[in-house]
Amino acid sequence: MKIIRSPKLMQKICREIKQKGKIIGFVPTMGYLHQGHLNLMRIAKKKSDVLVVSIFVNPSQFGPKEDFQRYPRDLERDKRLVEKIGCDFLFCPKIKDMYPFGYKTYVEVCDLTKVLEGASRPSHFKGVTTVVAKLFNIVQPDIAVFGQKDFQQAVVLKKMVDDLNYGIKIIAAPTVREKNGLALSSRNLYLSSEQREQVKVLYQALLLAKEMIKKGERNPSKIISKMRELINKQPLADIDYISITDAKILEPLKKLKGEVLFSLAIRFGKTRLIDNIKVKVS
Ligand code: PAJ
Repeated sequence: MKIIRSPKLMQKICREIKQKGKIIGFVPTMGYLHQGHLNLMRIAKKKSDVLVVSIFVNPSQFGPKEDFQRYPRDLERDKRLVEKIGCDFLFCPKIKDMYPFGYKTYVEVCDLTKVLEGASRPSHFKGVTTVVAKLFNIVQPDIAVFGQKDFQQAVVLKKMVDDLNYGIKIIAAPTVREKNGLALSSRNLYLSSEQREQVKVLYQALLLAKEMIKKGERNPSKIISKMRELINKQPLADIDYISITDAKILEPLKKLKGEVLFSLAIRFGKTRLIDNIKVKVS
């Protein structure tokens, strides 16, 4: 595995790979890797000739009061994990090379980025789409794999790829969870042992919603109020939002039908966790 820091060199290497007619699979990450990330890499590897993984804690997607400074980083450990997967190139650019002095260009997807995570984190998706657009231009992948854990992110990036004619196939891979249902996240590291006991309520609330659907409930307010009740039993949980939307356009639903996305964001102290499930409702 080659480790590349320079965006220019990474772009040159990828251009040469493409000229040979090889398929590039790409998995962008912010590092501090876990099995969720590694699963995306396995999927990308199966579908490509050359696997490129990036690790870049992207400052432009963190709000001023968010955790950019304390976001966990461990490049040495990450390198070992990525190498084991059989990654060909690990791209770890420096901030000053991605956003040099005088940087002025941003990519923004409208509407889809104003709801759910976008409502709570106003400039977040502008940072995500900008960095992913840059990474796509550098790596020129044929296939890129993202996690359903960040469902809205995958929807927004698919929209960007369609609207800007990137011609990249976006694959959304299932969420990898701990045995107790907690979705793996680099941010789980922040949790105290007391919080760790309580965070499984995120997935429990999503399963409760699914169960209510199965039993015939079709009123979103009733489902949300039951989810709220369950989450509020955990004294350290502070609900940011619980939302039931259409899974494609992410708009709230009055009547539940079709592909429905249940998503939530809950704070435990300073740590904000998100999760979701998609349910087919007939
Ligand atoms: P990061 O949070 O490091 O996540 C990288 C990729 O891993 C994303 O596609 C995310 O959805 C996926 N992922 C995270 N946890 C997962 C889990 N438990 N199961 C399956 N997939 C999971 O998302 C980002 O970084 C950034 O916003 C990025 C796209 C790299 C742009 O900076």
